[in-house]
Amino acid sequence: MADYQTVISGGTVVTGSDVARADIGINNGIIAAIGLNLKGESYIDADGLVVLPGGVDSHCHIEQLNDRGGSDEETWTTGSRSALAGGTTSCITFAAQFKGQGILGTMAEYRRRASKAMVDYSFHQIISDASDEVMFREVPQIVAQGVRSLKVFLTYENSYLDDHHFIRVLAAARRNGCLVTVHCENYEAINWRTRALLAAGMTEPKYHAWSRPVMIEREATHRAIALAEMVDVPIQVFHVSCAEVAEEVARAQHRGLKVWGETCPQYLTRTASDMDRPGFEGAKFMCSPAPRDEAAHAGQWEMIRRGTLDVVSSDHSGWSYDSVAGKRAGGPDASFRDIPNGMPGLGSRMAVLFSEGVSKGRIDLCQFARLTATNPAKLFGLTQKGSLAPGKDADIVLFDPAKKVTITNALMQHIIDYTPFEGMDVTGWPVLTMRRGEVAMKDGVVLAQPGSGQFLARGPYDMIKPLGRLPDGFDASAFEV
Ligand code: URP
Ligand code: ZN
Ligand code: ZN
Repeated sequence: MADYQTVISGGTVVTGSDVARADIGINNGIIAAIGLNLKGESYIDADGLVVLPGGVDSHCHIEQLNDRGGSDEETWTTGSRSALAGGTTSCITFAAQFKGQGILGTMAEYRRRASKAMVDYSFHQIISDASDEVMFREVPQIVAQGVRSLKVFLTYENSYLDDHHFIRVLAAARRNGCLVTVHCENYEAINWRTRALLAAGMTEPKYHAWSRPVMIEREATHRAIALAEMVDVPIQVFHVSCAEVAEEVARAQHRGLKVWGETCPQYLTRTASDMDRPGFEGAKFMCSPAPRDEAAHAGQWEMIRRGTLDVVSSDHSGWSYDSVAGKRAGGPDASFRDIPNGMPGLGSRMAVLFSEGVSKGRIDLCQFARLTATNPAKLFGLTQKGSLAPGKDADIVLFDPAKKVTITNALMQHIIDYTPFEGMDVTGWPVLTMRRGEVAMKDGVVLAQPGSGQFLARGPYDMIKPLGRLPDGFDASAFEV
């Protein structure tokens, strides 16, 4: 007699801490058992395959509204199709606030748009205007809806916060039990160098990197950490581009602070010289912070091995090369300042990291599971996600570790018309994705239905509780200032 509706049999099961040849029994979308010779009503043969927790991509931009009244090109349907094709089952995307706006109305609009998702999802709330109304009255309401992370930009025209307003966001996070995620680059320094580069006629895509050298990322990271330490609130530093920046995170961690570091495949595989490709091709590799060089990649892997950088997300950002709002919309001579930043990566994140990390011997399978699923799920309070254990959602990806694939844009299944990983040969590929017990992708064919994704409301959790270490013991965040 069968004990389980579905059994994934005979695979190499990987958790954040162990690797074992075992079966996984699934009932009603939940992992019911991990064991040997489990009896199922139906079986998925995983012989020769690696069985991993479904990917959790805690940093991707999907249908994000912009301050010109439009939105990212990537839609929830195409974005989640790409995610499932690439082995990712949960995404945390962004709800953006613009100056002069509140956050409650926009959150409702983001929830409405995400109702077409095929992956499970949550949001980071971007704060670009730390007004009294938002800080003291609206943030508690979005937290009550299950949004537990606030996102801050320390650069970008129209989005960046100065120190005063950043501190107010940190204080709001402390009052409401949120994590703050931070884009760390120095707005004023980038602005100054950009104006000088444009004055010198140095406008091609490669000068994007010149506008934002390493020390301005390092300075902003140091400042973000110091201010978060003053307010006593946990932060995650987004998209760390190199070891010099990760060292700021490491120093904070050595002091016992709740500071975490994220990086992305582009900071492990792409370089500033990609932005110098012939013609306008370099625009495809423009993102912020800018990709560095090959020596930086080696430093990044070391920071991953040490655990300083413990999450690898995609920072999937939705701009095509050729589209009305895309990279080339300003014409072939557009200055780097006017080219939209960001690159797609939802569909490639897991395969690129598996190939460059596991297949090349830089990380082991358990580290891969932690970086792509377990750690982001824990850090962001997705308690049902990120781990293969009884009681967790049956979000599972089967990787063929020997499968060799050359990445093409068609394989990504996103709406964007290019991938920055075009032509990359990878070893290891996701062949089946299961989301809450249902086969959502098999052999590259996405089977999930739009609207089958679920909103993941996040409650309070210990990992992001303040340390209780305030300068002079004085809690300034308790005051409406
Ligand atoms: O260039 C990037 N990273 N674009 C996406 C927005 C952001 O800064 O994360
Ligand atoms: Zn960013
Ligand atoms: Zn981003």
